[in-house]
Amino acid sequence: MAYPRHPERGPGVDQRVVFLMSLTIGLAVALTGALWALADGSAAKGPRGAAPTALHVLESPETVVEMPSPATSLPPVMLHVTPVADPCAQEAVQQALAAGSDEAVVAAFGGGAAFRSAVSAGNAPCIDLADPRREWAVVNKSRPLNPLDFAPAAFGDPALVVDDAGSLRADVAPALDQLSAAADAAGVGRIALASGYRSYATQVQTYSSQIQQYGQAQGDALSARPGFSEHQTGLAADVVSCAGGCGDIDSFGGTSAGEWVAANGWQYGFVVRYVAGQSAVTGYDPEPWHLRYVGPALAAAYHDGGFATLEQFFGLSAAPAYLG
Ligand code: DAL
Ligand code: ZN
Repeated sequence: MAYPRHPERGPGVDQRVVFLMSLTIGLAVALTGALWALADGSAAKGPRGAAPTALHVLESPETVVEMPSPATSLPPVMLHVTPVADPCAQEAVQQALAAGSDEAVVAAFGGGAAFRSAVSAGNAPCIDLADPRREWAVVNKSRPLNPLDFAPAAFGDPALVVDDAGSLRADVAPALDQLSAAADAAGVGRIALASGYRSYATQVQTYSSQIQQYGQAQGDALSARPGFSEHQTGLAADVVSCAGGCGDIDSFGGTSAGEWVAANGWQYGFVVRYVAGQSAVTGYDPEPWHLRYVGPALAAAYHDGGFATLEQFFGLSAAPAYLG
């Protein structure tokens, strides 16, 4: 028997069948959900008791029952992370180390930031921060030179020096010349070397002179003991401004050249080693005139990372006082 169809009097027979089927399926779904909830209370909840996720609605009941317990620790997938390779195993690193090319070593690591990251993480066993021949050497009150009477192999003289400034390591002198020329070009005048390499014997005189003048505590805040000075590596340069005549180191920080060097010295491979606010780390009063050559790549990483001390840069302990 055929029912008359009229759009204003309700659905025809096909539509009624569809309606009844939909109603039946809906009830079945609702009933199934209730049974799942009764069967496993935890399965009806997401992790940490959250509302059921889309997964519960879309997947089969078996999948819901097999849901893992809420995570309380790092997921096991962390165990499958591939360990970072030891950069020292790279042939380019080994060759650069053997050749004595510090810049090439840093480049082979992937640049200054990568080098710093690997060294500070303890993932660079071939890098010895105690080697005074290297641009990354760290010398401080708990890290004396080794040997104590170390001297660089080759020296060079910067173009502009004052008094008996001495020399610098052969590759550092031209870097200081570039810094000085750039400072002059920037309008702050030339920069001269006032004190460069100091031998162990010279540091004996320098240190004892400061102690006699200022006493033990203040002397130790001004001068390194023999065998503990960066000047003995040939990588340190005390500089003065020569704008309108060369000044002295004590006034350097207040000059335009001093400000320029603090902001731009890194581009020529230098960092200001003893800055204000870091005496508890370095053990020295601020010395805006004491530049330390670490090479352009490491100096850039130091600058870009906002580091204030080499100790912080390489993740080393503070060295406010001598150990013995
Ligand atoms: N004035 C610095 C700390 C030195 O003597 O090396
Ligand atoms: Zn100095």
